[in-house]
Amino acid sequence: MESTDADYLASPASVLVALVTIIFLLHRAWPHLSHTKTDKVTDSISITSLNNSDLTVSKEPEIPKGWWSGREVFELERRALFSQTWLYLAHNSQFKKPGAYQSFDIAGFPVFLIRGKDDKIRAFHNVCRHRAYTITRKETGASTVLGCRYHGWSYDTTGRLVKAPQFDDVPGFDKSQNSLFEVHTYTTDQGMVFANLKSSESAAFDSAVASSLSAFSRIAGLKAKSTWVAGQTLSGDFNWKVDARTRHLDAYANELHRRMSEVSAASAVMKFIRSITRKSAREECSLFPITVIYSFQEAGLCLALSFFPASESKTHIRYDLFAHSAVNEPDIRKMSEVLQSATKNLIAEIELEYQSISTKQRSSSGLNNTDTRQILSRLQEHTKLERIEGGQILPAMHKPEGSTLFQKADQLCRQLDCVSGGSQDGTSPSALDW
Ligand code: FES
Repeated sequence: MESTDADYLASPASVLVALVTIIFLLHRAWPHLSHTKTDKVTDSISITSLNNSDLTVSKEPEIPKGWWSGREVFELERRALFSQTWLYLAHNSQFKKPGAYQSFDIAGFPVFLIRGKDDKIRAFHNVCRHRAYTITRKETGASTVLGCRYHGWSYDTTGRLVKAPQFDDVPGFDKSQNSLFEVHTYTTDQGMVFANLKSSESAAFDSAVASSLSAFSRIAGLKAKSTWVAGQTLSGDFNWKVDARTRHLDAYANELHRRMSEVSAASAVMKFIRSITRKSAREECSLFPITVIYSFQEAGLCLALSFFPASESKTHIRYDLFAHSAVNEPDIRKMSEVLQSATKNLIAEIELEYQSISTKQRSSSGLNNTDTRQILSRLQEHTKLERIEGGQILPAMHKPEGSTLFQKADQLCRQLDCVSGGSQDGTSPSALDW
């Protein structure tokens, strides 16, 4: 019997062919749908320095020149990314009482978080308004009055200047004009504290981040009442963009397992290790551009791992472990040892990776493309804006109010020799040179 067109169209083979054709056409039409974490960057953008204040963008098939170790790329990242992106810094459980603070170096921007007497967590540039010396010198500490050691200016937990020895009687000097520069913060329902260095009056928190965190915390169990168990900042000689967070995680987990194999199987530590090494029990939430949070459900724990760039070839790795219920002291000690050891090994692995990449022994196929493309796109956008403006755009820079009065007061104070042990370097009194 002869087949008609209608018979052919209705046959299973024809339906299958039609489906395959449609999928193929969709795939071609929306190439971004086919990207995975292991895709190569084939159309990346090269950022080439023209002069000290301008950067241009040109299309090249390779990873941009200077991407791994270029000072100018790093400086552009500071302006385009770190000066205006919401960054996860800490969990509110890390600030147990008023005055508890933690200092950070975010791509060369010194910042600290502090819990105020009103219980609110705020962030400030860690720069004295007198002559720009560092206010908090330790990484963590607690004090409701923060004194600058250089000339004794003191600030309260809201950043207000409360004491300026020798300046009180100087005409034109106004303490209220010399508070610390505040940094935007946002604390999520889960107690996670984000900061944004943008100096604009307001900065809306990224709602997409808020909703993905909310979904993650429903699985992970992370909440505002979770408690901080252990944490540390370590440093490595590599560019922060070497995306080891996914690439080396299994090795990281295996190392944890190996190191803890001698620990009693009945302990909470062993539960922690079992959960961290079982992929099915592990969930993660990536917070662009520097943080990933892992949840170890079996043990009721979460680990936040952040990569803070210190320079184009140095990165600080901050890890913090949080528990959803009480953990005893011996277990905390063991977990701390395990995490420290495993993180040191992780750093060694990344440093090796970085050496291979920077000496071109390996290709860049291990890049996390999603993040890389996003970083590239942000750098491109900022470069375009700078070209339009005809100079660098520094979103984190604060222009001090009342600087003229300040300078007059400082000058008079110098004439009266009222500053003891003052700076001899002629640093501008209040302006942040960023
Ligand atoms: S009091 Fe801080 S720099 Fe002088």
